[in-house]
Amino acid sequence: MLFDILTIFPGMFASPLREGIIRRAIEQGRITVNLHNIRDFATDKHRMTDDRPFGGGEGMVMKPEPLVAALGSVRKQGGPGRVILLSPRGRTYNQRTAGRLAGYERLLLVCGRYEGVDERVRRCCIDEEISLGDYILTGGEIGAMVIVDSVTRLLPGVLGCGDSARNDTFSRGMLKHPQYTRPRVFEGMEIPEVLLSGDHAEIEKYRFLESVRETLKRRPELLAQVSFTAGERKLLEKSGLMTEVAEALNVHGG
Ligand SMILES: C[S@@+](CC[C@H](N)C(=O)[O-])C[C@H]1O[C@@H](n2cnc3c(N)ncnc32)[C@H](O)[C@@H]1O
Repeated sequence: MLFDILTIFPGMFASPLREGIIRRAIEQGRITVNLHNIRDFATDKHRMTDDRPFGGGEGMVMKPEPLVAALGSVRKQGGPGRVILLSPRGRTYNQRTAGRLAGYERLLLVCGRYEGVDERVRRCCIDEEISLGDYILTGGEIGAMVIVDSVTRLLPGVLGCGDSARNDTFSRGMLKHPQYTRPRVFEGMEIPEVLLSGDHAEIEKYRFLESVRETLKRRPELLAQVSFTAGERKLLEKSGLMTEVAEALNVHGG
C-alpha cells in the first residue's frame, strides 16, 4: 500500500516511520510512505505556504496554489488513490474507518497547518475529511501518523502472528478482555485460574465473557453494533449477563 503525505513538516515523520511494526512493514515492502514538502511547490521567492485570511481575523490560512500543485504532482506519480484531509471538521476516525481505508491501494494524506486550508482546496481536491477527535491539534501530521499506523497493522502479513488484529479491541465492536503475563502473582494479585487450565475452549469462553463485561462497564453503547452467535447467546444467558446486555441494547438502540 502506498501512503503519500503532504506536509510542511516532513521531518516530523522520521522517528515514527523508523520504529517497530511500521519500520518492518516498510522494510518488507508491504507499505511505502512518501513524504512531500508542500513548500517545494510554492513559487514565490519566500516559498510561502500561508497568507492572511480574506475578511480579516486571526492567524494565517494555507494558500491553495502550493497545496494544489503538490497534490497534482504527487497524483501523477502513482495509481489512483483517495485524498484525505486531516481536519477537525471531518468525521471522527475509528477502527471501522481504518478497516475501510485498508481497502485502498493508495492514500494521499494532506496535513493542514495554521488556521487550516483555503476552502477551495477542500472543494476541488479532497475526497474525505477525517478528524482525530473533538480537540484542536497544531497540524494534521499526528493524524496522518495515526492513519498510517492503524491502517498498516490491518494489512495482510504485517502483524506477523497470523491475524491477531482480529481480536483487537473494537474489531468485533467490543473492548478486549483483560490480559496477563508473568509473574503469576504480582503484589499479591493473582491471575484468573482458568488461564492456567490449558483448556482452550474454557479460556475462549472466559475471554468472551470478560470482553462483554468490560464493554458493559465502560462503553455499553458499543454493544448496539455487535451480533452474537447462538452459542454466545447461550453463554450470556448461562452467565447471567444476557439481561444486562439486553438493557444496554434497549438504552443504546441495538
Ligand atoms: C490549528 S488547526 C486549525 C483549526 C481551525 N482553526 C479550526 O478551528 O477548525 C491546523 C490543522 O491541524 C489539523 N488538525 C487540527 N485538529 C485536528 C483534529 N482534531 N483532527 C485532524 N486534524 C486536525 C488540521 O489539518 C488543521 O487544518
